Amino acid sequence: MNKVLNDWVNEISELTCPDRVVWCDGSQQEYQGLIDQLVASGDFTVLNEETYPGCYLYRSDPQDVARVEHLTFICSEDENNAGPTNNWMSPEDAEKKVRPLYEGAMKGRTMYVIPYIMGPAGSPISQVGVEITDSPYVVINMRTMTRMGQIAIEQLGDDGQFVKGLHSLGDLSPDRRFILHFPERREIWSVGSGYGGNALLGKKCFALRIASTMARDEGWLAEHMLILGLESPEGDITYMAAAFPSACGKTNLAMLVPPECQDGWKIWTVGDDIAWMKFGEDGRLYAINPEYGFFGVAPGTSSKTNPNAMISASANTIFTNVALTDDGQPWWEGMDGDPPAHATDWRGNDWTPASEDKAAHPNSRFTAPASQCPCISEDWESPRGVPISAFIFGGRRAKTAPLVFEAFDWEHGVYVGSAVASETTAAATGAVGVVRRDPMAMIPFCGYNMADYFAHWLSLGAKSDKLPAIFHVNWFRQDDGGRFIWPGFGENLRVLRWIRERCLGAADAVKTAVGWVPAEGTIDIDGLDDVDEETMADLLHIDRESWQAEVEDQKAFYEKFGDRLPEKIWEQHRALAERLSL
Ligand code: GTP
Ligand code: SPV
Ligand code: MN
Repeated sequence: MNKVLNDWVNEISELTCPDRVVWCDGSQQEYQGLIDQLVASGDFTVLNEETYPGCYLYRSDPQDVARVEHLTFICSEDENNAGPTNNWMSPEDAEKKVRPLYEGAMKGRTMYVIPYIMGPAGSPISQVGVEITDSPYVVINMRTMTRMGQIAIEQLGDDGQFVKGLHSLGDLSPDRRFILHFPERREIWSVGSGYGGNALLGKKCFALRIASTMARDEGWLAEHMLILGLESPEGDITYMAAAFPSACGKTNLAMLVPPECQDGWKIWTVGDDIAWMKFGEDGRLYAINPEYGFFGVAPGTSSKTNPNAMISASANTIFTNVALTDDGQPWWEGMDGDPPAHATDWRGNDWTPASEDKAAHPNSRFTAPASQCPCISEDWESPRGVPISAFIFGGRRAKTAPLVFEAFDWEHGVYVGSAVASETTAAATGAVGVVRRDPMAMIPFCGYNMADYFAHWLSLGAKSDKLPAIFHVNWFRQDDGGRFIWPGFGENLRVLRWIRERCLGAADAVKTAVGWVPAEGTIDIDGLDDVDEETMADLLHIDRESWQAEVEDQKAFYEKFGDRLPEKIWEQHRALAERLSL
């Protein structure tokens, strides 16, 4: 009934010439029908029905396995509004170069119209999107990752607004692959890729790139953050939101299982990748998870590191680019037990432990319903969201960044977030393990000039006196032999406990040049085999020389923004340099 929607669907159908148009209702019947179709065509492999009921393996095109940051563009009217950290294409060039790729692109294919809600139905923080796609794999994943179909049509109504997302697989050639965002029109064009972040348009394209621009205009936040609740033995819950770059530990932290010796502590998952936050009447920031499922990294996930993810992905799950055991089970590097003596690798070739190549692609993923997570929060679908007490920034740093520190105040905290750096991972194509600056873990996802993004964050400081305290963590510090010093995973609870106590004004801290660092003995290390007070001192050590190099590197990054960088960021940068020189 929505005229704008109907007109757009007609326009796209004339442009792309599909054999037929299907409006997705989100029903189980529709889902199963699409699965049956993909099984029949050989695109899906049915997994072991006893151990993995309702689960399927999908192998993507081997050249289409990760996000493509070099092919991702912000198409703002003014190039300066994309900023120096985004690729920019003018809307006119998009018309000339990219629109033709859609002409007749759906001939011989079905065009699916997917209405979806990002966020719980009826929440004042939720938004509606509609994705048009010619990929049944996308439809199936969107059903798990969003609230899709009839429920979204109802929320949209006759004259409701929605974000348009046009997706076609095109010919899957990387030469004709583009991920475009039109922030002024709130529109997305994606062509030439079927991979997650490039093709499931509700996720990074809408919930981060487009939503971040909406959030700037309307005074809220759209962030690459997990949301968790930390429950104490007394039963109170502290909600925290944490931003780590792609494949740097959000899903793991969100579902953390406390070690046995930490009796009575519990973690509840609200979200594992994206947070949308608005101010409540009490001046606090309330966060919702706009997603409905997890699109999680498979490698490294095991019942030791992340048992809740293993359980979440043990039924009704789509596995993409993992290996297949001879008895029909998914397998990846870092899973439980010994590697299988024989398997089929992610490309479909024979694999044995003697093979040179990895069995699963390093960015292989599982798409699992969030409702299947054993530690899903009671409030994960709460329309008002959960009140956030702490923001945690972090990255993968072999050196320099200590295990944890707290920012002095909001402005310092925004600066700390803007200065995050991390080693690149397989979540995007390109080199892996290269340290790059990744402010607030948003470098690939901020839909506008990041200088303005820092200004937006700073502006919140004047809006409330109940803003979250800001922390920085690093689980990935290495010794000289390249071994992780901190055990990580479940043991990260110990750091979260310190953060909670700081929020409550309880734990002691020592003032250093970079921020407040835990006082000796304030992080509980009881029961840790490989960490004593000396190791802890090592993990928390602020090395003046490497921090001075850090400050230099930050300078080169900030200079890219010219006059547009808020003076307050420079002030904080200068103040740190000065503290380091004392
Ligand atoms: P995206 O979905 O790409 O945004 O990633 P994410 O931030 O949710 O990362 P995820 O939790 O899936 O972790 C990525 C990889 O880091 C996995 O291989 C994990 O096993 C590993 N990892 C997570 N937490 C820790 C930790 O505390 N220590 C160590 N050493 N590795 C970790
Ligand atoms: C990430 O890369 O940060 C992801 C996976 O969460 S994707 O959906 O591909 O962006
Ligand atoms: Mn992510």
